[in-house]
Amino acid sequence: MQPRTSLQIHICVSVSALTMFLLKCAIQNALHAEALVWGLPLMSELHLTVSSVCILFQIDREHSKNFKPEDVQTRIEGKNCVVTGANSGIGYATAEGLASRGATVYLVCRNKERGEAALSKIQSMTGNKSVYLEVCDLSSVSEIKSLASRFYSKDVPVHVLTRYELNFAVNVLGTYTTTELMLPLLEKAAPDARVITVSSGGMYTAPLTKDLQFSDSNFDGVEQYARNKRVQVALTEKWAEMYNNEGIGFYSMHPGWAETPGVAKSLPSFSKSFSGKLRSSEEGADTIIWLALQAKEKLASGSFYFDRAEAPKHLTFAATRDSHAAINSIVASLRSLSALSL
Ligand SMILES: NC(=O)c1ccc[n+]([C@@H]2O[C@H](COP(=O)([O-])OP(=O)(O)OC[C@H]3O[C@@H](n4cnc5c(N)ncnc54)[C@H](OP(=O)(O)O)[C@@H]3O)[C@@H](O)[C@H]2O)c1
Repeated sequence: MQPRTSLQIHICVSVSALTMFLLKCAIQNALHAEALVWGLPLMSELHLTVSSVCILFQIDREHSKNFKPEDVQTRIEGKNCVVTGANSGIGYATAEGLASRGATVYLVCRNKERGEAALSKIQSMTGNKSVYLEVCDLSSVSEIKSLASRFYSKDVPVHVLTRYELNFAVNVLGTYTTTELMLPLLEKAAPDARVITVSSGGMYTAPLTKDLQFSDSNFDGVEQYARNKRVQVALTEKWAEMYNNEGIGFYSMHPGWAETPGVAKSLPSFSKSFSGKLRSSEEGADTIIWLALQAKEKLASGSFYFDRAEAPKHLTFAATRDSHAAINSIVASLRSLSALSL
């Protein structure tokens, strides 16, 4: 009898390496982008032992090869665009891009000097004098209310409202309050009004949670950022459903990772290591401007966009989809926190 030979192959893959690999594949699949997963901690919703993840999206030159230049060549004289976070980074590039196409642009900035500097730079770069500054700290509900009442007294229809900031007070409560208070002026611009909320691909790692201010465990800034950005995506979906018949389109989007003052400040070593490899602010603003200029029939209200195309809101493995059911109770909390009447 011949002795049997057996071949045993042992494959050792660490859980974290495997998960990174799966995550990278899922993101590449979702956004058709070259995703570069950075940072070792992993997604808690994958029930692994780690708490957060940072995901970077390299410039996908393949995407921009398919962009149609005529899509962003439209002139929009007479359209009123309100851009928050407009003195820096992607918000500044968006404001300048809209002004260069003839729009009337209202820059909403918290600091008068930085706002005035942005205003005069945009006016001189674009030759458009219809650029105005509104000073408002969007982390303060009372300042947002006073901003809204200044707009009510101007009585201008608002065609485009875009927003850009970083923490809970601004990203979630500020986003909610400005949008709700601007609705009457957006309705005046219907059926051409649109609200563009700059979220982030970072939201892919977080489910929607009712714990808006991270009270249930040790605070984690990266996780909180992802949660805030998830709320923006779910709110956009909710607004689209609520105001379906009001002629206002609601869109959330991921700008890609761009080299901005915000990234340099919040992620200094990362910003240094990837300097020159990230998108420019103008590249980050491209899809926002594209969303502002397209015919509404080409866009899907409530959707999430990346690189001039609709992108999924959930990754296959991330188990975040069902969490969006919590949005009604989150809207109720935000309404109460912002003290808006029912
Ligand atoms: N850059 C990226 O790679 C990236 C990737 C994904 C998503 N995003 C999103 O894109 C948006 C813009 O990011 P960015 O990188 O362009 O950031 P940025 O350069 O820091 O710009 C943020 C802007 O928001 C303003 N702002 C912050 N807090 C404010 C407040 N309380 N009231 C009024 N204005 C306030 C800042 O004004 P001050 O100058 O006064 O601080 C600044 O003009 C953010 O929502 C970010 O989450 C960015």
